[in-house]
Amino acid sequence: MDLSLDAFLALPEAEQVPLIGDRAVLYASQFERATLDRLCAVAEAARSLHRTQHGATFLGGRIPNRMALNFFAQPSSRTFMSFNTAQAALGFERVSVRDVGRSSMSKGESLIDSIRTYISYVDVIVMRHPDEDAAATAFWAASRAHRRLRAGKREVPIPIISGGSGSKHHPTQALLDVYTLQRHLGSLEGRTLLLVGDLRRGRTARSLAQLARLYPGLKLRFAAPEAYQMLPDITAQLDAAGVDWERVPTLADGLSGADAVYMTRIQDEWDGPKTDGHVAAHPDFRFERSHLDQLADHAVLLHPLPKRDEIDPAIDELNDPRVGYWHQERNGVWMRVALLAWLFGVDDVILEAVP
Ligand code: NCD
Repeated sequence: MDLSLDAFLALPEAEQVPLIGDRAVLYASQFERATLDRLCAVAEAARSLHRTQHGATFLGGRIPNRMALNFFAQPSSRTFMSFNTAQAALGFERVSVRDVGRSSMSKGESLIDSIRTYISYVDVIVMRHPDEDAAATAFWAASRAHRRLRAGKREVPIPIISGGSGSKHHPTQALLDVYTLQRHLGSLEGRTLLLVGDLRRGRTARSLAQLARLYPGLKLRFAAPEAYQMLPDITAQLDAAGVDWERVPTLADGLSGADAVYMTRIQDEWDGPKTDGHVAAHPDFRFERSHLDQLADHAVLLHPLPKRDEIDPAIDELNDPRVGYWHQERNGVWMRVALLAWLFGVDDVILEAVP
């Protein structure tokens, strides 16, 4: 990387992508269809291997003597848990930094110096940060850092994986969402996906929308209050890729013919300090018990979670097979196993190990 940090960050996402290659995971837009298909296959292979003691032991020996850092400067339950579980399944040792107030950043150390420091000790960094450029900054720092990782025959920068970058990007969630959709629907091609809620600041919905271009005929519907609609940076990418998308006035208006509904919560942490609790979901964008009756039998209801009032809690009591979000959580483990395996060059051996 010859560019200065400012020059790198000033590049449009599409021009950063070739510099990232397969050495970091920063944006959903960096993935091609062949990689996605491969990651889904590796996730499925790892899942099936892990079912037997022999297979789990094999998997647990794929990436030995490596240390993973889970650096989460924002709240996390699922992403943190699933990366830890995935790393354990592959044999990584793990360490985490979750309270920045107890790191040297509270003494005024820059993010770049902190990342350089972590690189002295660990072999991969999963990071979640409120600043949308933090993961790209860490990637830039890793590209120029004093220590590199020997992976097979090549030496690469310590991989940086975004586990959520500001309100803009959550690439690994998008990967696990595609894996979940594929498991439920067989294929995403020609399907209709209704995204609901805070699409403006919902990094999961944004990153998932960025993958639509890879599935011919996949149609997107956006149901959100005007203030929370999908931003033009994403819709412009969809237009450029020829993705068929539309805005629908309410959730109910988007249900007919939908193969999947992807709910999101209002991301009110970006509204500044609150005194009177969380912002409620608008009634037109809540998934009610009655909406389930309008969903096709093969359809699936997803949510990156955490959920609040945007899904009727009574739905969880029904044990309806179309409720996919609890499975979606577990799918995240296997997709993150696949992603780490791919970054560390052990995806082939995992695929080959399945009879
Ligand atoms: C999401 C996130 O952090 O963006 N959570 C997750 O990783 N599953 C969604 C959210 O917080 O609403």
